[in-house]
Amino acid sequence: MDIRLEALSARHPAARPGAVPALKSLNLQVGAGEQVAVIGPSGAGKTTLLQVLACALPPTAGTLTLNSQNPWQLPRRALQALRGQLFLAPQVPPLPPRQRVVTSVLAGRLPAMGLWASLRSLFYPSDIPAAFEALERFDLDNKLFERVDRLSGGERQRVGLARGLLSPAKFWLIDEPLSALDPTRSRQAIAALVEEARARNVTLVATLHQVDVALSHFPRVVGMRDGQVAFDLPAAQVTRDKLARLYDQYEHELRGEVPAVADAPAATPQPAVMHCR
Ligand SMILES: Nc1ncnc2c1ncn2[C@@H]1O[C@H](COP(=O)(O)OP(=O)(O)OP(=O)(O)O)[C@@H](O)[C@H]1O
Ligand SMILES: [Mg+2]
Repeated sequence: MDIRLEALSARHPAARPGAVPALKSLNLQVGAGEQVAVIGPSGAGKTTLLQVLACALPPTAGTLTLNSQNPWQLPRRALQALRGQLFLAPQVPPLPPRQRVVTSVLAGRLPAMGLWASLRSLFYPSDIPAAFEALERFDLDNKLFERVDRLSGGERQRVGLARGLLSPAKFWLIDEPLSALDPTRSRQAIAALVEEARARNVTLVATLHQVDVALSHFPRVVGMRDGQVAFDLPAAQVTRDKLARLYDQYEHELRGEVPAVADAPAATPQPAVMHCR
């Protein structure tokens, strides 16, 4: 899916009247089959951007174009059909607590199924091997028949991502997929997502707090701050200097080991401090 945002502004529906918009005259273009990570400090507008891209939040100014169409000018049915081509994974996946993992994962296919097939699949999971395979990518195959409310936060998050692998969507929007995962699982999960997106020619936009993961797994990284694009670069060109400016006054949010890059002098090694009892 081909995406274009031109001078786009948006505000959260619950924002106070007169509050600054969460997205301010933002320009961005993502080609079909591209994988892009969006980074930036808290409040930068990353989630709002995903909501706009998912056609869940209408812009207050400017235009959104998805595959040469302005979704907000489409008739209601056409807009629904377009939404069916998108997969949005919120930070906390909305999984029914009493549901089995297998059913939750297979729900990724619901937008492409008719009403009766959807209802049937709630009671009789239709393609258990496909759910198993998707869970395997996230090291969760042993939880196939577990109930969702017996999973940890990180496991639920991975079930939400596995659901994406079942989705027929050509545009994946993933919000903070790693917030409840340890560093090893984070890398494994993001590698699975990016690999699958690449293999299926899916357009992937993921917001991430782990800057090192964004730089090492995505070919393109967009830095957002104050509702605008601060930089939009190939990962190899995102320097420490640019990151320092992006996270200025939010340094505590700059998580992960940032790889050394050309224009940044390596930090001077500090003497080791030894503590004796
Ligand atoms: N529930 C809300 N009610 C009112 N305003 C909101 C709400 N959520 C977000 N906003 C506004 O939108 C701005 C952008 O928020 P958004 O959630 O898009 O940021 P973010 O970059 O995703 O932050 P984080 O990294 O913390 O998830 C906020 O600074 C706030 O002004
Ligand atoms: Mg967010």
